[in-house]
Amino acid sequence: MNVPFLDLKAQYVSIKQEIDAAVGSVLSSCQFVLGAHVKEFEENFARYCGVKHCIAVDTGTSALHLALLAAGIGPGDEVITAANTFIATCEAISYCGAIPVLVDMDEKTYNINPKLVKAAITPKTKAIIPVHLYGRPAPMAEINAIAKDAGLVVIEDACQAHGATYKDRPAGSWGQSGCFSFYPGKNLGAYGEGGAVVTNDDAAAEFMRLLRDHGSKQKYHHDAIGYNYRMEGLQGAILNVKLKHLPEWNRLRRAHADRYRQKLAGANLMLPPPDDDSQSVYHIFAVQVDDRSRFQDDLKEEGIGTLIHYPIPVHRQKAYAHLTWPSYPVTERQAGRIVSLPMFAELTDEQIDHVAAAARRSVDL
Ligand SMILES: Cc1ncc(COP(=O)(O)O)c(C=O)c1O
Repeated sequence: MNVPFLDLKAQYVSIKQEIDAAVGSVLSSCQFVLGAHVKEFEENFARYCGVKHCIAVDTGTSALHLALLAAGIGPGDEVITAANTFIATCEAISYCGAIPVLVDMDEKTYNINPKLVKAAITPKTKAIIPVHLYGRPAPMAEINAIAKDAGLVVIEDACQAHGATYKDRPAGSWGQSGCFSFYPGKNLGAYGEGGAVVTNDDAAAEFMRLLRDHGSKQKYHHDAIGYNYRMEGLQGAILNVKLKHLPEWNRLRRAHADRYRQKLAGANLMLPPPDDDSQSVYHIFAVQVDDRSRFQDDLKEEGIGTLIHYPIPVHRQKAYAHLTWPSYPVTERQAGRIVSLPMFAELTDEQIDHVAAAARRSVDL
């Protein structure tokens, strides 16, 4: 049996008629950049996240960049984030001339460790970016309390957490801004690049809208040096269709995670943390094993795709070799042990059982 890591085709086939109609409607309207479809998506996604504003952009990285600029982050400022994130979180900080200050992860949750956040605050710290890694919200109540005490802005990197909740409130609605990526493989994925910032802050929303479109509110009138971070009309229309299906897709992902848990109970590997205040939407189902390369080879032989999120932590990347880093023991240890199993809404029970059986055979040898 073949179980790919991700099957985007299966999802397209299941909603083909709706998608094809939406694409056709953009083509006949010729609103290829921003326009009515993007506006409609902004309204729908803001509602979905329980906030006032959504600013649709071209990527999650641009979303983070705009959110940081709207928070007034600039050269020399320090921004605290998770050591085990995707590099884009740090790149956005660097684009502002600010310095990423990494904090080790909590061993059990894969999220930033709030105790270490507190210890990393200096007079230069201006913001914290908790990352809802793998679709599981970081402990936002604790992080917001720390930020409030220290007078810091919180920007959520919710790029992997569309529809996840913390204490029943949507990811993205806890900070000053929440940033999302609609990269095709995400729980809510475009058919190309896409991103968005959501916020309840009217002034920040207006500033981000201005900056995403060359600093312009009115064509050829430029109030600021901005960027071309606009979302394409096709992506807006496609995301509008897919957003309607997202609650069901997330429900299925959560059910698949439960089935993996049942089938892997007692096996010699570490499972992702169960829900507590944080309710995951399982963008990634990452387990930890002792001998990862053998594990991946064993699964590959049984037709199963796996990936690693992420094999080299940001502070070990060449791109960040110019900064001096302490060690991050938990992040470094888990970077050599984590492996992500197939996870997408269209997975069948038989496929999950096949993956779990192969995983068990590999680790329980
Ligand atoms: C945690 C995290 N932050 C930021 C990004 C950047 O998003 P994008 O690839 O849309 O720029 C991603 C996407 O891969 C991500 O997973």
